Amino acid sequence: MTMPPAPAGFDAGIHSDDAFAQSILNGLNASKKGIDSKWLYDATGSQLFDTITELAEYYPTRTELGILRQNASSLKEFVTNGAALVELGSGSSTKTRALLNVLTGLQSYVPIDISADHLQDAADHVAREYSHLDVIPVVADFTAEITLPSALLDAPKIVFFPGSTIGNFEIDGAAQLLGRMRKMAGVAAFVVGVDLVKDADILVRAYDDPKGVTAAFNLNLLTRINRDLGADFDLSGFKHEARWVADHKRIEMHLVSQVAQDVLLLGQKIHFAAGETIHTENSHKYTPDLLERTARQQGWLVHQFWTDANSLFGVAVLTPYKG
Ligand SMILES: C[S@@+](CC[C@H](N)C(=O)[O-])C[C@H]1O[C@@H](n2cnc3c(N)ncnc32)[C@H](O)[C@@H]1O
Repeated sequence: MTMPPAPAGFDAGIHSDDAFAQSILNGLNASKKGIDSKWLYDATGSQLFDTITELAEYYPTRTELGILRQNASSLKEFVTNGAALVELGSGSSTKTRALLNVLTGLQSYVPIDISADHLQDAADHVAREYSHLDVIPVVADFTAEITLPSALLDAPKIVFFPGSTIGNFEIDGAAQLLGRMRKMAGVAAFVVGVDLVKDADILVRAYDDPKGVTAAFNLNLLTRINRDLGADFDLSGFKHEARWVADHKRIEMHLVSQVAQDVLLLGQKIHFAAGETIHTENSHKYTPDLLERTARQQGWLVHQFWTDANSLFGVAVLTPYKG
């Protein structure tokens, strides 16, 4: 069963032009230009991300899916009466099915994403396939406080955060999110996927594929700014770059200005020196130890940590530390 779309209050502010405009202006006027990676996901960005997940070089999706298929049934212990699966950054809800197929006692599924149309499509598909579930999509920005529908406030919850999306946060930001999730009423477990530190070549290939899909995903941000804010970015004047920054254990995505150029944005002239970049995404890589320490500081214990045979990716099942 699909619930009616969430009331307007659930997406208030997320997609306001003002919030987008202000964030882009602030980011491009900073001394080191950067844009919050959440803006990569308009409808086109979400579709391009789905294409990335099918690339041979992009090992995280198939690896995490394999881990989940192998281990998801052990989450049954957290499915008590009236339980909800709440997913952060749910995208196409592909990995969710590995959980829904075995956690048949769940009453509701609450996919949360910033990409509104893509979220609604994905939720409709899940609702058709799993007709016993209440599917309640919520458009929200998980970097801020999330308001769940009141009927779910006290329901027992498994929170699911796959896709190594937690890696998009600086470690402090990830800690804050873990802290906020720890305070969510009824939370029994937090299941989070992290990409693990590995050989830099494998990592860079995953974020800079030869078909140029990741480049198109990154450059689509400029298309979005042109379309929604009337800017005049010339896309041929920027190139996608993925770099491994060992000091921070992260892949950074940048858009590199190929020449010195000016871009007109909301009446302001933004200057780019040749070689100057817009930093568009971080993808932090974890060790099991880093995850354990960060989680523990926020009141979580690592109940289980699953990985694949090559230790490429990890999925942690965190439970509230009650001591
Ligand atoms: C890396 S993709 C992962 C998608 C999916 N969970 C998976 O594992 O394949 C990140 C997802 O989080 C969403 N997202 C990114 N930033 C967000 C934010 N601040 N609030 C809510 N959703 C966000 C994107 O729209 C996208 O669906």
